[in-house]
Amino acid sequence: MPEKRSYYLTTPIYYVNAAPHLGTAYTTVAADALARYQRLNGRDVLFLTGLDEHGQKVEEAATAHDCTPREWVDRLAPAFTELWRQLAISNDRWVRTTDPEHERAVQTLAQQLYDTGDIYPGTYEGWYCVPDEAYWAQSDLDMHAHDAGETDAPLCPDCGRPLRYVEEQNYFFRLSKYQDWLLGYYEQHPDFIGPETRRNEVVSFVRGGLKDLSISRANVKWGVPLPWDADHTMYVWFDALINYISAVGYGDKARFAEFTRRWPANLHFVGKDIIRFHCVIWPAMLHAARLPLPERIFAHGFLLAKGEKMSKSKGNATAPAELIERFGVDGYRYYFLRDVSFGTDGSISDEAMVQRYNGDLANDWGNLCSRLFNMAHKYCGGVVPDPANCANAEEGAVLRDVAAGLYARVDAAFAALDYAAALEAIWDLVKAANRYLEESAPWTLAKAEEGSTEQARLAAVLYSALEAVRIIALFTAPVLPLASAEVFARLGLSALDCSSTEALGALPPLEQLTTWGGLPVGNEIVIGDPLFPRL
Ligand code: MSP
Repeated sequence: MPEKRSYYLTTPIYYVNAAPHLGTAYTTVAADALARYQRLNGRDVLFLTGLDEHGQKVEEAATAHDCTPREWVDRLAPAFTELWRQLAISNDRWVRTTDPEHERAVQTLAQQLYDTGDIYPGTYEGWYCVPDEAYWAQSDLDMHAHDAGETDAPLCPDCGRPLRYVEEQNYFFRLSKYQDWLLGYYEQHPDFIGPETRRNEVVSFVRGGLKDLSISRANVKWGVPLPWDADHTMYVWFDALINYISAVGYGDKARFAEFTRRWPANLHFVGKDIIRFHCVIWPAMLHAARLPLPERIFAHGFLLAKGEKMSKSKGNATAPAELIERFGVDGYRYYFLRDVSFGTDGSISDEAMVQRYNGDLANDWGNLCSRLFNMAHKYCGGVVPDPANCANAEEGAVLRDVAAGLYARVDAAFAALDYAAALEAIWDLVKAANRYLEESAPWTLAKAEEGSTEQARLAAVLYSALEAVRIIALFTAPVLPLASAEVFARLGLSALDCSSTEALGALPPLEQLTTWGGLPVGNEIVIGDPLFPRL
């Protein structure tokens, strides 16, 4: 078998200042669905996620909880791994910025930029947002808007929380030097940043002029020490961005082959609030270090609760565990990918979630499976019937035709990161199968006597619907991994597990798998419990 092509995708690494919420889970679920899709599509996937553990924000969270930063991150890290387990997140690798290999990689890259003169000493004086770990130039601030509380400081233009004044000796990265180069790069690589609105935003930001960036902190102890000046720790964003290369062996001679196979990444998923870091600073860092740039960076929007960004600090963030409990893992994943358009902000609500669950999952998809599996037992002895004796060779063509066009539609939708469109396309087949059963009325055909043309047609009708179910289970597996695995088991097929390239084994790629006629006649069918019990 020829070697599978690499597909490397990443999520942002999450701050360990509080437990994960729906917003952080959103990026991870979307990335997971894509990772699973690419595995099914025949790629050798490396899906990376992890934790951003250094910096002032984490240091202060630890102090507030009377423990050391090390104790704090170790105490909180399991909340993330546990949630990813509950949500069936199939990351192939897990990075923590306190991993010694990561810290070494950070030092290697920093030293290189220091040696080439891209990092130089200077003095920083200005405003800093601790929750965002971001510097702000005076010109970005509205000096009339002040904190109503005790600090009287100007507010962060991004998150609206009071800024802090910082004045310290530190080191700078020559970001300004790369301004023209960056603009040229965006121009020559129109797909580098998506969606279009974010690309435009980044371009106009860079056109507005770049200043050199302070990349070390003298007063923050919780971080990676600079190799040439141990009184400074690395600015947390500089440290964190490097996770994308440290996780695949950057700077480690023994892992050179792995690094060249995996890097550059195919895709970085980010939220729209962190595009400057990913689309401006990160490419400049890589270019300065003579490393290739990721193929694409895609920014999704925010989940809004009653019109406001859902966040820990606003106290409007629902705990994912509650929703998993009610809707199940698949119900949870389905809702966020189907109902919220990826790339723009999306309001979420309990009513919408119940509606999607009951309508699409319980009524359409779950019900199709249970009525069909029941009919297979009632009319065909519980096995996949043989369609060969049906006089009409065109029986089931309505389903075969929808199925035939599906791969191209779904693949295009995944390539565009349009999850809702992918699911909508698949639902065309779900709905067609339900309609087909209504119209061909197997319960009437079953009344005809043994050996009749109606009985032969019945076998072909049920075969066609069962085959549609097999194909739907394959296409929905990236979003509904548990239900798909279950449907495969009930159809007597070998396991469908796209949680890792190895788990998929020698399964042919999705396009081939979804070709009509793959369901073996005679397979035993299990009725089982409803896949999505109505709420
Ligand atoms: N640690 C940095 C990322 C470093 S990557 C080298 C960070 N962490 S974060 O935990 O604050 O946020 C991580 C991601 O969660 C961001 O992409 C952010 O957009 C996303 N979300 C946080 N709240 C969100 C919503 N309410 N809705 C959707 N996503 C949001 O930033």
